[in-house]
Amino acid sequence: MTKRVSLTQYLVEQQREHGLIPAQLRLLIEVVARACKRIAIAVNKGALGDVLGSAGTDNVQGEVQKKLDVISNEVLIEANEWGGHLAAMASEEMDSIHVVPNRYPQGEYMLLFDPLDGSSNIDVNVSIGTIFSVLRKVTNTRGISEEDFLQPGKQQAAAGYCVYGPQTTLVLTVGSGVAMFTLDRETGSWILTEDELRIPEDTKEFAINMSNMRHWAPPMRQYIDECLAGKTGPRGKDFNMRWVASMVADVHRILTRGGVFMYPWDQREPDKPGKLRLMYEANPMSFIVEQAGGMATNTKERILDLQPTRLHERVSVVLGSKNEVERVTAYHRQAG
Ligand code: AHG
Ligand code: MN
Ligand code: MN
Repeated sequence: MTKRVSLTQYLVEQQREHGLIPAQLRLLIEVVARACKRIAIAVNKGALGDVLGSAGTDNVQGEVQKKLDVISNEVLIEANEWGGHLAAMASEEMDSIHVVPNRYPQGEYMLLFDPLDGSSNIDVNVSIGTIFSVLRKVTNTRGISEEDFLQPGKQQAAAGYCVYGPQTTLVLTVGSGVAMFTLDRETGSWILTEDELRIPEDTKEFAINMSNMRHWAPPMRQYIDECLAGKTGPRGKDFNMRWVASMVADVHRILTRGGVFMYPWDQREPDKPGKLRLMYEANPMSFIVEQAGGMATNTKERILDLQPTRLHERVSVVLGSKNEVERVTAYHRQAG
């Protein structure tokens, strides 16, 4: 029988070999992983657990909250509040930051999350997930504000996501490659099922919501037109398309077999850079993708270099197989 490596063992070994995971960070990652397990259980119950449908409220971005958006947010807050590893949290589902209450010790990390990604897929039983990003609090006073969170993605101490799909998988980086764990439901443990994931540099598969094509900027349209032209077009090969509409599931596929994921700016709301959120969607996913040898830009610049100005800031996203992301980015740069 091959040796099974648990998440705990992986983290302890990483700390010994690379010294990247101090005790507080290890606790943080284990607590997030445990919270994801609870969310996975709620997701699996579906209608039997009364977790489907709308919560009847809107979040700060004006989106209708699903019951599972709210439940997942509560699970993550509750799990992370008391351990002494965090100073504060921020979430897609909360207007402002959640500071660790005074009755608990304050830690040196800050956690950001998209508690439930792919909300439109909950009620139709399609893969959804949780995305998280970990930053270090750089000031050492007890007070903390939104300002402390506004760090470029390259400063993340860790990032990960969990996919609630046919399997429940957790993908993690602490800055030394990417590892994948699968939930063993019988023992309740996260078991390492792949280490040092690599995204192939070339691909023949793209992911984008094509129904928005007429609203894109010309370089974006040019790129997709060329893919659609197939073998007899300028690219000289046929492309395939996939769009799950859960970023976690689309990124997970790309991490597994390559591809390029795009959610670009569109002209209907010219002042809005894109749909996805920089701090708890684009940054953690970009960190993971880069750690797996891929690339991530906002069509012009590296996402991880962007200086955030607001917690809920949005951004254009192009990420995945390096050569394809380079091409999309070059088309945009040339267009000016
Ligand atoms: P969320 O459910 O957290 O709001 O995120 C949904 C995002 C992302 O997961 C996905 O890639 C995209 O929205 C899908 O958008 P469309 O419905 O426009 O295709
Ligand atoms: Mn999301
Ligand atoms: Mn969400």
